[in-house]
Amino acid sequence: MTHPSEFDWTTLRATARSAMERAYAPYSKFAVGAAALTDDGRMVSGCNIENASYGVTLCAECSLVTDLIMGGGGLLVAFTCVDGNGDTLMPCGRCRQLLYEHSADGLILDTVSGFKTIDEVLPDAFGPRQLDVYRETRA
Ligand code: THU
Repeated sequence: MTHPSEFDWTTLRATARSAMERAYAPYSKFAVGAAALTDDGRMVSGCNIENASYGVTLCAECSLVTDLIMGGGGLLVAFTCVDGNGDTLMPCGRCRQLLYEHSADGLILDTVSGFKTIDEVLPDAFGPRQLDVYRETRA
């Protein structure tokens, strides 16, 4: 089980704040930045990118996952997200699902109520395993 002390949260939060500065949020004026570490030691980040068609808005976690995939993929081991004041922000429900897909076992999130694992913020998650189990029953 990974321990939060294994990661440099100060640097990760600073990276999330830099990403937040790049947010494109002309509609909500609510800037968000996210940063994460991968299992092979890379740092990835993202900001929210809004759209005149509001529902098309990309959360910061979406651009972080794009950064992850474009940088060679891998799994997330530590994650943080900040608002426009630089304060810790909880990922929305959809983004918890998004992060789950790319999470290493025990991914640690920096949350408003302390460090939590992905399983704590998205209990009994639906994921690739459920698809495999279903396919096995059909085989
Ligand atoms: N937002 C994120 O980027 N991530 C979240 O987890 C919560 C919400 C963005 C979407 C939108 O641009 C703004 O915050 C207000 O909802």
